[in-house]
Formats: sequence, C-alpha cells, structure tokens
Amino acid sequence: MLLYLQLLSLCLLPGGRGDFSPPRFNVSLEMPPYQRWEPVLRHYDATQLRRIVHQVIGSVAPKWVIPIVEQLATQLGHMLPQPYEAEIQGISKALGISLGDGLLINLVYEISGFCTSIVAQDSRGNIYHGRNLDFEFSNILRSLTVDLQFVKNGQIIYKGTTFVGFVGLWTGQSPNKFTISGNARARGEWWKIIIAALLKRNLPPSWLIRDTLVEAVDFQAALMKLANSPITANVYYILGGVKPTEGVIITRNLNGPVDIWPLMPKKGQWYRVETNYDHWKAPPSSDDRRTPANHALNATGQNDINLRALFKVLSIKPVLNDCNSITRGRRVELVRLTIYTTIMCAAQPYDYRTLVRT
Ligand SMILES: *[C@@H]1O[C@H](CO)[C@@H](O)[C@H](O)[C@H]1NC(C)=O
Ligand SMILES: *[C@@H]1O[C@H](CO)[C@@H](O)[C@H](O)[C@H]1NC(C)=O
Repeated sequence: MLLYLQLLSLCLLPGGRGDFSPPRFNVSLEMPPYQRWEPVLRHYDATQLRRIVHQVIGSVAPKWVIPIVEQLATQLGHMLPQPYEAEIQGISKALGISLGDGLLINLVYEISGFCTSIVAQDSRGNIYHGRNLDFEFSNILRSLTVDLQFVKNGQIIYKGTTFVGFVGLWTGQSPNKFTISGNARARGEWWKIIIAALLKRNLPPSWLIRDTLVEAVDFQAALMKLANSPITANVYYILGGVKPTEGVIITRNLNGPVDIWPLMPKKGQWYRVETNYDHWKAPPSSDDRRTPANHALNATGQNDINLRALFKVLSIKPVLNDCNSITRGRRVELVRLTIYTTIMCAAQPYDYRTLVRT
C-alpha cells in the first residue's frame, strides 16, 4: 500500500497536458567508452539524428568556428580528457558524422540556455533540488531528452538527464550523496572563450558535472570540485546534499569561484533560487523568473516544501518558460522554452524524476 501510494504520488505530478516522462536507459561504465552509447543510440534513427546535428550546428555555430573545430578534432586524442573523447568518437562513428561535427554538437549543447534551479530544505532538514532546463530548438530537443542511469557491477553509480548525442550532464544525482544542476551565466564571447579554454585543457562545465558525480565522495568534496576545477565557460552550479544546510549556489568563472551562497536555514533562508543572473544583482525586468519563484516558495512555506511542491513552483509561469519571442532580422523566433523539469533528492534517489514539458 505504501509503495502504491508513493508510486501514485510520483506518477501524478501536476504537469500540464501533454507533458511526458522521457525514456530511461542504462549506460554501462564497464563497456569501453567508445561503445557505451551504442545501446542508447540504437533506439533512435541515425538518419534523423544526423539531420538534427547538422541543423543545430548550422544555426548556432558561427561560420568561423566550424573549420577550427573540424581541425581541432583531428588532434582530439591529445587534447580532450577521457572518457569524453572516446565517447564522442564512438557516437560520431555510430551516427555516421565526422568527429568535428560530433565535437561541435557537444559544444553547442554546452550553451545550456536559460534555466531555473532551486535547492531547498524542509523543516525536518530534508534537502530537495529541482530544475527547469530551457533551450532553443525545444521541439527537437524534447524528442532527444533522456534519463540515464550510469551502471557498474549491477549498481547505479549516478543518474542524469541529457540529450541524445551529448556526453555531458546538466542535471545529475549521485545516490545518497548529492545532486547537481548547472545554469548558464553570461554568454558574450562564448565561442572564443570555450575554444581558448579547451586548448588549455579546461573541462566543459557539463563534463565537470559528470566527473564530480563519479569522483566526489560527499557534498563537501563535490562543492570543492565544482568550485575550483578550471572550466570552459562561466556557469552557476547548484548543489544539494543529504544533510541539513547541504545546499549551495556556486557562481563560477573559468578559473574558480566568484561566490558561494549556501542555505542558511537558521536565518530563515531555507531555499536558494538561481536563474541566469548573479544573485547579488537584480535580474533584468525583461527576464525576471527569480521573483516569481521566490514568491511561490514563500507562499509554499518551509513546512510544506517537498518534491511535489517544488515541481509546482517550477511549473509557474514565467519560471516555466513557455513563450518568449525574439526578433532576429525580420524573423520572429520563439526561443528558450522549458524543455524539461527534473526534481531530485539525493537521500531518496529513487524519486529522481524528469518530465518533458510541452
Ligand atoms: C539498469 O541497471 C540496473 C542496475 O544494474 C538494473 O537493475 C536495471 O534492470 C537495468 N535496466 C535496464 C533497462 O536494463
Ligand atoms: C520571501 O521571503 C523573504 C523572507 O521573509 C523575503 O525577504 C522576500 O522578500 C520574499 N520574497 C518574495 C518575492 O516574496
């Protein structure tokens, strides 16, 4: 009965009509990196994936970037860290795309877009973590969203949510230890910076999330690693743990932390919201998702916060980014729509749940 009720409460998240759970696949960490994505890719049509890769690269990557990355790709083996280099090699081979395109599509998805992440502590000291991932190409990326379980020796080492073909994770959980999400921070000279930083062997931020999920033994170790490892783009890392006060927003530049903003429940600061702006500055009025999220969390209250309530907060417009248009030349494009919502709690690892939003 208890299990039934738990299942019921999870299945009946108050999503909108048409929201759906993405497919869930295992990725075996025992298989060589070059081969480990094949069982996932087998569920998708390679021709269609190839077309998507070319479409997305063509519309996002500036023209000057493409030849540079194609050229870099031939030296990939010496430059990029494992297992990511071998995984990108394997994926490119399986899809029948060049290594350069395999690398490019992974770099394109590094522009994680506009997001909202929340970490919160309830009155009993439980930590909850939720995120919306917003990106362009939402129609395409919805169909490519997957929940992955990285397994070894019959055990789930970590979980995450990503897009097929992208080896990084913007959302992940190390069971009974911690949960991580990443949000974009300032995009400016993005391509120049990422390429220069890759050459210095910095890690793309979503790869650092994966490294942290594998290596960090607890919340504190994850905090140190996420705060201090050199990366290729400015980001916010949002980290939740399993014990009271284990929740923090890390504001990053390429070389280290700019700011560390922990939960302070004793001072009544029982949640932290991060969108895409430094928390000590006001968000632009054209994109204020922070105030509505704060407002909804205040209205929920610390006694009543849980995964279900967090999901509701993440479903309020404009926290749920449902329709923003920008004008590019003569065309008006809809951009940065929420693609998926994930809620997670490291102490209850089986409650990890993603809903693709439509
Ligand atoms: C995924 O791996 C877990 C842990 O080994 C296992 O329990 C589960 O059955 C696997 N799922 C699939 C679909 O193979
Ligand atoms: C939420 O509550 C805190 C603490 O009482 C308060 O400082 C803040 O202004 C409130 N925010 C909103 C948007 O209601």
